[in-house]
Formats: sequence, structure tokens, C-alpha cells
Amino acid sequence: MSDSPDSLENNAGDPLLSEFAEIGTRIKIVAVGGAGINAIETLNLHDFPNVKKAAVNTDAASLRNSKMPERVLIGRGITRGLSAGGDAALARKAAESNCGDIARVVENNDLIFLVAGLGRGTGSGAAALIADIAASKGAMVIAFVTMPFSFEGGQIAEQATVAFDELRLRCEAVIPLYNDSLMQVVDAEETALNAFAQADRWIQRGISSLCAAILKTGLINVDFAALRAAFPIRGGHTLYSLGSGTGPDAAQNAVEELLGSPLLRAQESVRGAETLVIHIAGGTALTLAKANDIVTRISGKLGGRNTIMLGVNIEPAMNDALDICVIGSAGGFKQRPGAFLEPPRKIEDLLPRGNDAQTPGSDPSKTPENRAGKRVQTELGLDEMEAQRRFFDKTRPSMLDGHPIDTPTYIRRGIKIVL
Ligand code: GTP
Repeated sequence: MSDSPDSLENNAGDPLLSEFAEIGTRIKIVAVGGAGINAIETLNLHDFPNVKKAAVNTDAASLRNSKMPERVLIGRGITRGLSAGGDAALARKAAESNCGDIARVVENNDLIFLVAGLGRGTGSGAAALIADIAASKGAMVIAFVTMPFSFEGGQIAEQATVAFDELRLRCEAVIPLYNDSLMQVVDAEETALNAFAQADRWIQRGISSLCAAILKTGLINVDFAALRAAFPIRGGHTLYSLGSGTGPDAAQNAVEELLGSPLLRAQESVRGAETLVIHIAGGTALTLAKANDIVTRISGKLGGRNTIMLGVNIEPAMNDALDICVIGSAGGFKQRPGAFLEPPRKIEDLLPRGNDAQTPGSDPSKTPENRAGKRVQTELGLDEMEAQRRFFDKTRPSMLDGHPIDTPTYIRRGIKIVL
């Protein structure tokens, strides 16, 4: 529990206190690719004037049409501003070619929200590298990603799955929103655009709830340092759900909606969370006793055996309405058999030499994970790599530009991963 620095804004007349008002959790939302930008474009941040938004895309037209305050075109020389055309490997190259610009977008932040639609090119190919760079700059990274509709096809689904696993290795939390589960909440007649709008609302609510829990002066605030400590590893499952209610039974209805939400049904592990972050916002009828009852009911179903963090904001304008948002971490994920994942990169290899965005005095022998004091949950040991090769030893090695890409890049290039 802590006072939010924003509470000091009331003391703007006092030079000492207004100086402290400048100090607070620095948060930026980085939207990647077309879907990511669409999801964040309409997010209203008037309650959080210090939270910034940025858009990163290979598609110049999408950036031109966007009103995001910070816009970065990546891979101008590779895609000529014409999007990655569904090619995640091309988008990855595009992102690599603008590492310095990406570093400038993410640096000097404590928390980066990454938002992307996985399945096509830019979101799938660039998000993991952006997460790597953000981690190397010391930020906690929480990603919200949409997973494609089944009707988009197997190749899109596969590209999304690989990108999702790659992101998990780099982010403290990755929250998947399965487009198929949208079908359970939108009418059959609704258009894909309406369905996407629902996904966008789910993403916006999650980001707004976490921002409110951390930044807004509330009945109870979530301390950012404690939040960060509560997500000690990368590579874990993340659990996410939302619920709302109104009237005399608002709390009960909101808890029931949250526990029965398609958001939870689509997730792999809905019980046994190690950490739960619960944010509750409601009108003046919301009491601590009610909040406590909500926490008991949610943790009884979802877990939270290590840590339960609670944020409670009273918003008089909500009258008798109540909103709950839950984000939890639920242990490490298992490597999919045969999946080939790029390990997190040494960012110094990618950043232009002498670039002012590079961390001064950073030790190039250290991986982003070590600098950020994080342990990656899932890493293929050499034995496992061998075992996987044996599984495929009747097949021809996959080659790309003359390189055997069945062998992880860090082994091919002799990069030592320091644990
Ligand atoms: P390229 O177009 O290849 O450069 O990649 P991209 O990442 O920019 O693609 P885009 O973001 O347009 O689409 C990625 C996935 O997001 C799609 O496969 C859809 O499942 C989903 N998607 C597309 N448009 C939207 C949208 O407006 N909102 C949401 N929530 N999802 C979308």
C-alpha cells in the first residue's frame, strides 16, 4: 500500500512538493503494428497525463493516419513503408534496422505496455525485439496481444504461437486475447470490426486498471516496486479477467462475470496463480469490507498463494457501478516440442555504436535479463536441443541465407548466455 505520487499534485503551489510531483512511475504504452495501434488509438488517458503512447509500425500509411503523439516507422529501407505483408521475419529485420529509434521510444520508463495483434508480420516480428530493448533499458514489460481467429488459417496461427512464446521469454507478463473467444461475447451478426472493438476494450480496460492502481490516489494503491517484485520471472503464464456490475448486487455480479468470462476460459491455467493483482473501481458505496469480500471470492477460485496485491479506487461518477480487473502470474510454461525460439538478443549487438540511446557504461557481456535482474523461466539446455535434433534427424536441416536455423542463433554465433 502506498500513496501515489500523483496525490502530490494538489500541492502544486509548494515548490518542494511540486518537484516531487515530477517523480513517479514512468509508464509508456507502445502499440506495434496495425492492430496494436487500432487498440490504443482511442485509449483515453486524460486521467493519466504522464502516461505516454507511442506507435511503431512498418506501414507508413497507418502511422500517417494515426493521432498517436509518438510514431516510429521501422524498416523504411526494407519494406519501403508498405507494411511487412504478413512476414514476421521481414518485420523482425525492419525492427533491427531501427533499434536506436526503438531504444529512444522505450528508454527512461519503468513500465512498458506492449500492445500488438499476433499472426501477421509487424506485431509478430517486431514485438519481441522491442520487449528485449525495453528490458535492456530496465523497464518492466507487460504485453497485451490478440491471437488470431481460427478462420485466419494455420500459418497465421503458427506465426502467432511462435511470436507469443518469444514474447513470453522477454516480458514479465504476456496477456493473450483470443479472437475466437470474442465470438462468445459479440452477436453472430456483428462484423469483425465490432469484434475487434471488443478486444480493444478488453485491452484498454486492463491498461487503465493497472495505471489507476499504480498512479491514481486511491483507497488502496499498488506500489510499482512491489508489483515488479511480484513478477520475478519471465516466461510465466499470465491470467487476466474482467468483470463489471451495477446496482445493489454490483460486487457479486462483477465477481461472477469475471470468473465466468471467456477471457479466463480461453486461458491455459485459470487456477493456482502464484500472484494476483486485483483492481477494483466503484462509486462511493464501495467499502473496504466489500473489497475484502471480492478479494476472498476471487482468490478462492484463482489462487494467489504467494502474493495478492489490491488496488481500490473510488470514482463517485461510477455511482452504483463496480469494475474489477485481475492479472495474475501462474508459473512457467512448457517449451512446445520442436518449437524454435530465438533467445533474447544481446541488444548491444544491434544498437548502432555510439548511439546516444545506448545505456552509458553498460556491460556488453551482460544479457538484458541480467541487467534487469531477471531470470528467464524457460531456456533450452543443450541436451534438450540435441534431443530435439534427434527427433528431426531424418529431416534436412532448415537453411536461411546459408545459416542452419535449426541451431539456435546464440549457439551458431557463440554468444555466451550468462545466468
Ligand atoms: P503486417 O500487416 O504484416 O505488417 O502486420 P501487422 O502486425 O501490422 O498486422 P495487423 O496488426 O493488421 O494484424 C495482426 C492480427 O491482428 C490479425 O491477424 C488479426 O487477428 C488482428 N487484427 C487485425 N486488425 C485488428 C484490429 O483492428 N483490432 C484488433 N484487436 N485486432 C486486429
